[in-house]
Amino acid sequence: LQEEVEELKGEGKHLLPSLPRGVGWICNHLYQYQGFWYTARKLLGAINCQGHFKAQDTDLLLVTNPKSGTTWLKAIAFAIVNRKRYSFSHHPLLTTNPHELVPFLEIKLYVDDHVPDLATFTSPRLFSTHLPYLSLPDSVKHSKCKVVFLCRDPKDTFISLWHFTSKLRTSGQEPISLEEAFHRFCRGVSLYGPFWDHVLGYWNESQERPDRVCFFKYEEMKEQPAVHIRRLAKFLGYPFSPEEEEEGTVEEIFRLCSFDTLSNLDVNKNGKMESGEEYRTFFRRGVVGDWVNYLTPEMVDEFNRITDQKLGGSGLTF
Ligand code: A3P
Repeated sequence: LQEEVEELKGEGKHLLPSLPRGVGWICNHLYQYQGFWYTARKLLGAINCQGHFKAQDTDLLLVTNPKSGTTWLKAIAFAIVNRKRYSFSHHPLLTTNPHELVPFLEIKLYVDDHVPDLATFTSPRLFSTHLPYLSLPDSVKHSKCKVVFLCRDPKDTFISLWHFTSKLRTSGQEPISLEEAFHRFCRGVSLYGPFWDHVLGYWNESQERPDRVCFFKYEEMKEQPAVHIRRLAKFLGYPFSPEEEEEGTVEEIFRLCSFDTLSNLDVNKNGKMESGEEYRTFFRRGVVGDWVNYLTPEMVDEFNRITDQKLGGSGLTF
């Protein structure tokens, strides 16, 4: 533990030994902070971000639980906001992974004790995060910046997370069985978990302040992409004009950001992040309901039980 902490940078380092600790899915440990679980490095990034990020009223913040379609949402939001700047045939999304175009706050910009100079970002600044609502920097909560939350059925999110984690574990690490991962996920001990509490924080906020927080579901976006691309564009303050509707701009954005297009691009097949993760690990199947191929009826019952217990009465269902 000492070694794990010693190598890290960040003001919050002294806090780590006093926090509740759980078993990690890739790193050795997860730490519980303000009710949610983090790897040490991401937690220090989160604390650094809480201390230093100053939101502007014009900022746009994309928020997800890991494996809920972050990559897709980043691509669509970037394409919407920048559609006057780039033609669809020479678009940055064709040569750059969406995670580079819309950087994570706590995982990229504020990680390892960095305090980035955000003055170079053109307005509107597009950022992303997995932070729970409760733990967003105060400046985000108190500014007029817009927050988009995308969630996904917990069963598919879990299966996607299990595959992702399995790919990122090194060859020296024992694989985590589906059963073991399931128990950890259900107990909330997963990255940015408990999943249900994370989703509920944003759901409640979207109900109370719909002008500030807009809530999307992966499954609904899959079913009616054009409807939700329009809804997103309107919320972000970039509605489509009648001319753009006529020209098929919504469909162009959908096509450019589709799983098939993005996952087959050279950059996403062969490139990797600065931190080493290959971009292709962010593209697996991109379908709804893949959980039927993995979960036992008992696991499904347990998922449903937790969902009812945690979300019952909130109006949010899966
Ligand atoms: P699966 O593992 O179920 O295939 P995130 O981007 O939050 O890490 O989520 C990754 C999940 O989103 C993966 O789900 C991945 O395949 C899917 N995904 C990635 N790009 C997508 C896209 N353009 N459209 C739909 N789903 C996409």
